[in-house]
Amino acid sequence: MTRLSGITPSGHVHLGNHLGAIRRWAAEGRADDLYFVSDLHAMTSAHNPARLRGLAREQLAVLVAAGVPEESVFVQSDLVRELGALNWVMECTATYGEAARMIQFKEKAKGRSGVRLSLLTYPSLMVADILLQGASEVPVGEDQRQHVELARALARRFNTTYGEVFTVPRAVLPQAGARVRDLSDPSRKMSKSTRDAAGIVFVLDKPDAIERKVRRAVTDGESTVEYAPDTRPGAANLLEILAACKEITPEKAAADCSSYGALKDAVTEAVVETLRPIRERAGALLDDGGELDRLRRAGADRAIARGEHRLRSALRLIGAC
Ligand code: TYM
Repeated sequence: MTRLSGITPSGHVHLGNHLGAIRRWAAEGRADDLYFVSDLHAMTSAHNPARLRGLAREQLAVLVAAGVPEESVFVQSDLVRELGALNWVMECTATYGEAARMIQFKEKAKGRSGVRLSLLTYPSLMVADILLQGASEVPVGEDQRQHVELARALARRFNTTYGEVFTVPRAVLPQAGARVRDLSDPSRKMSKSTRDAAGIVFVLDKPDAIERKVRRAVTDGESTVEYAPDTRPGAANLLEILAACKEITPEKAAADCSSYGALKDAVTEAVVETLRPIRERAGALLDDGGELDRLRRAGADRAIARGEHRLRSALRLIGAC
């Protein structure tokens, strides 16, 4: 069994990415799993090349600093030739209807002009990410499930039409409550692409920034603390964050706090202590640079070597080369 998942550097890594994904990759990841920075995916809407390069580097440092096995990490664009080739094979296996049906495409393209063609075809690149490496399990949030379903469909279609090459992957979804919401607006999830950063705790935020953001988090007018996600979403989000950091239930977290002041103090402390070692180690990796470059090169070599034979077989079977 090989697990594979990715994170897109469309902004700074935040607490939601950490608690919902990276932390699990670190806890469950084995050396032959693959966790990568999907920088090619960050080019599907307006982007700044220099900023993107910096964010990709930062995310790689955060993955390593958070404890994702060093042997498992790589940066997607280091495989651009292999992935570009397999993406073409996948575009020739998928239909236009399948791509146009993707909910993320519909949501992101809605009402916009100048939508990049890559926003439509990006699921095909994601399929290539998964199939090139022969991944059998893909841990993702609900938002990415449809893309993994497409990978299943295309792997099966290719295998039956041209010959057996690809492992048919399946999505592995996190347990309920793994979705972290924006601290200023608990009706939306914490997201890298939100413009206003007031409600987003970044993994590399300093303690005083974390404290400020938690202190300003939206709650409600009640004087007691209770875990009620449907009626008190702001408080529930803070309780879920506290519970995730301390590995207790949100109900237990609520019972431990007598007021919102006490809850916010507890959340600040728990988040600061959860993120501190990651910020320090990532900072050291980014300052030194040499170690990160070495890890990046080794990761790329390993990922290319792993996928090479599948790409060659797929190209041969489909009639190229
Ligand atoms: P991305 O960068 O949007 O998200 C990375 C991971 O973080 C999770 N996540 C959250 N979890 C909890 N609360 C939140 N507020 C929150 N926001 C994000 C996501 O569910 C995800 O697990 N297209 C993918 C990256 C990708 C990929 C792949 C994944 C590229 N190729 C191949 C799997 C396989 C993406 O943009 O993830």
